[in-house]
Amino acid sequence: MLAYPFFLWLVGDIGEIRLAEISLKQALLQRRTVRDFSDAAVPVQALERLLWAAQGVTGPDGNRTAPSAHAVHPLRLYVQVGRVTGLDQGLYEVGADDHVLRLLHGRDLRPSLAGAAIDEQPWIRQAACIVVICADMVTPGRAFADQRPLGRRGARYVYLEAGAAAQNLQLQAVAEGLGCVGVGGFNDEATADVLELGIPLEPVMQLCIGYPAETD
Ligand SMILES: Cc1cc2nc3c(=O)[nH]c(=O)nc-3n(C[C@H](O)[C@H](O)[C@H](O)COP(=O)(O)O)c2cc1C
Repeated sequence: MLAYPFFLWLVGDIGEIRLAEISLKQALLQRRTVRDFSDAAVPVQALERLLWAAQGVTGPDGNRTAPSAHAVHPLRLYVQVGRVTGLDQGLYEVGADDHVLRLLHGRDLRPSLAGAAIDEQPWIRQAACIVVICADMVTPGRAFADQRPLGRRGARYVYLEAGAAAQNLQLQAVAEGLGCVGVGGFNDEATADVLELGIPLEPVMQLCIGYPAETD
């Protein structure tokens, strides 16, 4: 039985799976970390809705679904695609403004990301796709350089904003009938190396996504 069987009826148009709209209250009640994924592919439309929930632009001034201190908007999203219907396997960069997925290369980084994790975390390898929330750590540092705690406020705001984006995505995952685990336990330098990130970007959180495995 799927973890969220009651979504799988009536309205919606996510690939072959038809989903019901659910209320914010239902999504909040039903959100749980899922670490055991089935082999099913995630439709690209569902992935796009997850990305929109995390960082979608919702106003003419560039403001987004998640708030940002002084509207600096330091977050950058990457997606490692494993099993996504309509997308080739590989690492994608998500356009900060247009949300277009741009293929960087066709390699499967899931094993390397799992290798860079703290402790054994097989769900990183097994996820259908992984949204990696990265951040420009330099610009917020400069924007809040004169506010105490000096040198730390910028980073604090980045982590708060990443948390908001991650929660948005996780609630949308519930609405899609998808499972998700947010992984913050990774070696920062090793993960940045795997993703080939350079200054000013750093990885902040990985959201491993897939349909929940069937349970007894
Ligand atoms: C900042 C943060 C980092 C996390 N890092 C990991 C992680 O590295 N691996 C993991 O399996 N779960 C991770 N989690 C998920 C938590 O373990 C999970 O939220 C917690 O056990 C509560 O369960 P729930 O999400 O089902 O309520 C993380 C959660 C947060 C908020």
